[in-house]
Amino acid sequence: MYCLEKIRKDFPILQEKVYGKPLTYLDNAATTQKPAAVTERLLEFYTTENGNIHRGVHCLSEQASAAYEAAREAVRTFIGAESSAEIIFTHGTTSAVNLVAQSFGEKFLGAGDEIIVTEMEHHSNFVPWQMLCERKGATLKILPFDDGGRLRIDLLDSFLTERTKLLTCVYVSNALGTVNPVKEITKRAHTKDVPVFLDGAQAIQHMSVDVQEIDCDFFAFSGHKMYAGTGVGVLYGKKAWLEKMPPYQYGGGMITSVQKEKTTFAGPPLKFEAGTPNIAAVLSLHAAIDYLKDIGMSTIAEHERRLFDHALERLTNLDGVTVYGIEAPRSGVLSFNLKGAAPYDIGVILDKLGIAVRTGTHCAEPVMRHFGIDGSVRAGFGLYNTHEEIERLAVGVRKAQAILQ
Ligand code: ALA
Repeated sequence: MYCLEKIRKDFPILQEKVYGKPLTYLDNAATTQKPAAVTERLLEFYTTENGNIHRGVHCLSEQASAAYEAAREAVRTFIGAESSAEIIFTHGTTSAVNLVAQSFGEKFLGAGDEIIVTEMEHHSNFVPWQMLCERKGATLKILPFDDGGRLRIDLLDSFLTERTKLLTCVYVSNALGTVNPVKEITKRAHTKDVPVFLDGAQAIQHMSVDVQEIDCDFFAFSGHKMYAGTGVGVLYGKKAWLEKMPPYQYGGGMITSVQKEKTTFAGPPLKFEAGTPNIAAVLSLHAAIDYLKDIGMSTIAEHERRLFDHALERLTNLDGVTVYGIEAPRSGVLSFNLKGAAPYDIGVILDKLGIAVRTGTHCAEPVMRHFGIDGSVRAGFGLYNTHEEIERLAVGVRKAQAILQ
């Protein structure tokens, strides 16, 4: 049974007041709040365990190294990867995308080749590929979505050619909440031997993910959107690809030998982890995974589904509200506008009521252009949100409507 009261007590910030009103935190797609288990893990590391990893013979260093590798193993089991060598710690989803764009792109992309992205990507999973194609004289092909918020999968086969070197796709859209059929997309790409990179930043906190079942070649996500600290993310890559890809940054911790004439590199994952990582954040990610597993991803998904349906029903029943992407299966976020009102103004009024939402383009300008809008208001749901908070959102939107119209 989902014990929301207990869960909310695990997140001390949820007891805070904003302008004297109870905090209604609905900006979870930008970043989630942290349970005490995560903040305590950060504090514990810095107060009793701090040492650098993979470098020292002393006790603290060895303990930190063991804890760091235990976190890698926790990630491996959480996403169903075959080997811990396939789990690379990065600073977040953005650096995971840039890693692959640099390393894979350097090795496997040439002039005249093609990369497929979608119209639904966050800028983080769009611009690195756009820049790569510019650098290499390759072509960026953009798979569109329809007005209901569904990717045009019917066009996919015609997009895949013998020059396609990679297909990348967001699993759950940060701007619309669309859950894309990533297993089907991967299967179709693989029939043409095209590897698939999935941006899982808005999926991993809402549903169970099994990378072997999806069969994607790369999968990226951020810790801070799944209740861990900021500054840590994960790149999953199939070992066969990671072994063939060159390092993209050079430094300590990723070499086997440096001589004046030549340097040789470690295998994955260390090959891609140059320099001292954000050790504390990695350990906080382990704590967050344990926390999520204790509740259960399917239980979380079910709770959030009910919140989503409730919010959708309340907002679509308000005159003048447009909700975007309503034909697609969705999760996590609900994006909307109010006739005659700028998203920013709605956000400011909601804020004064203690309600935190995101407004603007959500770093997904192509999505906004598709709908011919400058931006939207986005409510993003988390495992601790309540139905009462959804009611507060609906009342807040109605107040904004009364003020702004
Ligand atoms: N990428 C995060 C968002 O969509 C910050 O809000």
